[in-house]
Order: sequence, then structure tokens, then C-alpha cells
Amino acid sequence: AKIHNHEFLVEATPVKRLCKTHNSITVNGQYPGPTLEINNGDTLVVKVTNKARYNVTIHWHGVRQMRTGWADGPEFVTQCPIRPGGSYTYRFTVDGQEGTLWWHAHSSWLRATVYGALIIRPREGEPFSFPKPNHESTILLGEWWDKNPIDVVRESQRTGAAPNMSDAYTINGQPGDLYKCSTKGTTVVPIHSGETNLVRVINAALNQPLFFTIANHKLTVVSADASYLKPFTTSVLMLGPGQTTDVLLTANQPPSRYYIAARAYQSAQNAPFDNTTTTAILQYNNNSIKNKPIMPPLPAYNDTNTVTKFSRSFFSPRKVEVPAEIDENLFFTIGLGLNNCPKNLRNRRCQGPVNRTRFTASMNNVSFTLPNNISILQAHYNRIPGVFTTDFPAKPPVKFDYTGNVSRSLWQPIPGTKAYKLKFGSRVQIVLQDTSIVTPENHPIHLHGYDFYIIAEGFGNFDPKKDTAKFNLIDPPQRNTVAVPANGWAVIRFVADNPGAWIMHCHLDAHIGWGLATILLVEDGVGKLQSIEPPPLDLPLC
Ligand code: C2O
Repeated sequence: AKIHNHEFLVEATPVKRLCKTHNSITVNGQYPGPTLEINNGDTLVVKVTNKARYNVTIHWHGVRQMRTGWADGPEFVTQCPIRPGGSYTYRFTVDGQEGTLWWHAHSSWLRATVYGALIIRPREGEPFSFPKPNHESTILLGEWWDKNPIDVVRESQRTGAAPNMSDAYTINGQPGDLYKCSTKGTTVVPIHSGETNLVRVINAALNQPLFFTIANHKLTVVSADASYLKPFTTSVLMLGPGQTTDVLLTANQPPSRYYIAARAYQSAQNAPFDNTTTTAILQYNNNSIKNKPIMPPLPAYNDTNTVTKFSRSFFSPRKVEVPAEIDENLFFTIGLGLNNCPKNLRNRRCQGPVNRTRFTASMNNVSFTLPNNISILQAHYNRIPGVFTTDFPAKPPVKFDYTGNVSRSLWQPIPGTKAYKLKFGSRVQIVLQDTSIVTPENHPIHLHGYDFYIIAEGFGNFDPKKDTAKFNLIDPPQRNTVAVPANGWAVIRFVADNPGAWIMHCHLDAHIGWGLATILLVEDGVGKLQSIEPPPLDLPLC
């Protein structure tokens, strides 16, 4: 196994999109940021230096971080932010994961421009689980704002309103030629007749689940979130923010130019959304072919049937070790809310007029609030009291018809910094239940420090009596982010074998700020190999 050393310089860089030049925060002047390529078993050492005027941290989305939670990155969860002028070296080993992950800033909305791919190939000399592709390409889906994204989120924190929508979706940082002033930069993906490309698709958008397709070509899905799948063929993918999907694409069509396209799957029912399309060009053989690219059909913004069919095609390639018995049977509601800014919460999340109604969100009616002068992991490790409590409820405080017409009295969650404590090695099941408070929504729920099995999903209220019969304990897919259906539920299982403080949150950035998160605090087991490593000496303090 190799050790890869990288330096990330975070700084403001002029970037021109949609006819205007902006000073965007980037890594090493690149937008999207550098692609990291490693083999399973390798170690990454990334020194991040912050030359921007904002705090920053970097999260390695989907990396298990076995006992190295100090390198996970979410601000005020596993570290204090790297202040302007500061630096921090993330050091971790990727073990037992193959496929596509990514990295992104985990501080305010910096990840709008601070993100990149993390490619993990099999161990040196070992094959992929599918026939070796001739080439590989990476597609990062994103969102672009004409305004500084940090100002966009700050404005919404001030007013309590939903943040402004982005001005374009992007493929590898480029809106593509259907947007103004964007023809020149449109991403071109080369392919050769008869050959097969492995295409790694990452949804790095802040707030938008996206459909993805390529004109006239079938896509064979082979892995998601760096876990292999039983291959299946489809013409369209849906990725929630945070999710990755790897597909095999064979050049079996007449040599031509074909559009690669992505467009919104409307996550919140009856909410405004942007229905524009981002494009790249699949270019056969050489650049002499110059026809107008062929446009693929895309599902309608509300085509939930396609989404359901797609997610129900996911299976592990073989029998997997899902815990058959469980020690922790948890039920978390996930949903929005409306709150007045309480007098005792005059912080970043709650500015402006005290009595104006503002958006909020919660799990089990707790709207998660980050500490602001220490990280949760530091407080846990050093046994510093008063930073968080461990009374996050295993079940919602009141049972109600979650997907029905919910009484207005249940729309106001209570802010808190609460964790749920798990014993080392405990076998955990979590039912994630969407609520229709304000509006039902497809929430991409991401758990740090773990992969989990998605053993079932469905619509309406989860019913333990009849829905347990649907559990797949044989070959369910393994992921780190589950798109919980709007007006529905998903059930996940995992073994709590990684000690640390792990945030579980909705990967729609607007919802993190509103409190759609909690902390799973996994205690140390017995001995060194079941305990979190000591913190690095350069861990940023507040
Ligand atoms: Cu990809 Cu907590 O994030």
C-alpha cells in the first residue's frame, strides 16, 4: 500500500461562469478541485492550508475513517474549523472500499465550489468486480450561484426564508451549452467505438437530487457509494446530493456526438425548483465529428416511479453480512418545520427578528445545533461536560400520522445539541421516516464513519408489523447516503464498530443549517484496536 501526499491550498480564485467573473473559493485554483486517485489500502495525507477569508474544513465523504475520526472533517463535530491563515493535515487509510467517493468542504456553504472526486481502485494487481474498462471518466454534478454562496446562505439565515436557488446545474463545474455564455466551456467526454468507459458519477449539488442520462446509450450500474452492486442496466440514474454511482458505458452507437444531461428530481413536493438542464458532450472517436449533439429524454421533475424503480434495482453482488439480530431499534423522523427564533438561541442559525417565522428542520423533533467553541469529538474524548447531551430520543416524542395532515402544533421542533450513544459493536437498525410537516420531501440521509445496508424502503408510515416482512437480509445494497422517499421511509442496518462522534444528516445543505442532523456517539470498545486514536497534534482548536 502506498502513502499519497497532497497539499490543498484553499483560496479565492476568479472563475467565469454565465457571462460573469466571480471570486470563488477553490482548492489549488481548480474548480472543481483536484481528483485524488488511490488504491484500496492506501493512505492519504492531505495538508490543507486556508488562505481564504472564511473558516474551512474538508470532509472525505464516505471514507470509513476507522478509528481516525479526527480526520473526518465536519466543523464543530470532529474538529474546530481551520481559521484563515491556518492549516491542518488530514491523515487516513482507505481500507476495504473500492469505487468512487469524493471530498468537500464541510463548513457553511463552501462546498458549492470546494469539492472533488476521490477514486479508489482495487488493490495493486487486483481486478475490478466487473470486466476491465478501456477508459475511465469522472462526472461531478454541481450547482452554480451567480452570487457568493456564503452570502446566499447568510441572507437566508437572516430572514428565515429558504435560500435562493442556484443559477445553473453543472457537469465538472460547467453549466453546458444550454446556458448563456457556456458553450465554450462545455465538458467533452471522449469515447472510442466498441470500447467501454467506466463513468463515475457524483452528485455534488448542494440542494438538488438529479436525474442523469446519456442520449441513445444504456448504462450498466456496477457500484454506488464505493460498494459494488449486482450489475443492472438502465437509461437513467437518480442521485441525491452526496451519492455516487459508477456505470459502464459501451460505445455501440453510430459515431456521433451525444448529450450527457442532468436535471432536477423535485425533492420537495409543491416547492419551487429550477427546471433547467446541464449538459456535457459524449464525443465519439475524434474531434472531427461536429454534428449538433443528440438530446436524450429526461424523466419529468416529479417522476417518482422512475426513482422508485431505480432504487429497487439495487442489490449487493452476493450474500452479505447484515446483522440478523439487532441491539438498537431506532426510529428517527426526518422533516421540516417552522419556528420562531427563540430568545435563547441568538446564534448564527437564528438571527434577525425574534418573532418572524422561519424554516427549521429536525430529527425526532430535535433541531440540531452545532457547538461553536469546541468540537463534539474533542468534548467526548476529553470528557468536557456541557457541550452536548446524550439524550437524543430513540423514538419520536409523540407518535402521529407522519405522512398525513400533521397538526400545526407539531411543526415546531426544539433546538438542541443531542447525541445518541451506541455501545461499541452494537447492531443497529434505524427506521428513517419522512414527515409531511411543511411538505413531504426526498431527503438524502448521510451517515459519517459508516457504510450501512438499506434493507427496505416504502411509502406512507413505516409499519413494524407488515413492513418487516419486506426486509432484505440477504443481499441488500450497501451505501453511505440513502435517499429516503418523500412521504415514505427507509430502514438501514450496520454494526457500530467505529468509535467516535459521527454526524448523520440530510445532505441538502439548506437542511443541515436548519438542524436536520444528529450525532451517533460510538463509545470505545476494549483495548487499543477498539478505541479512537489520539488526536493529531495540529488539530485546530477554537
Ligand atoms: Cu458529504 Cu456530512 O457530508
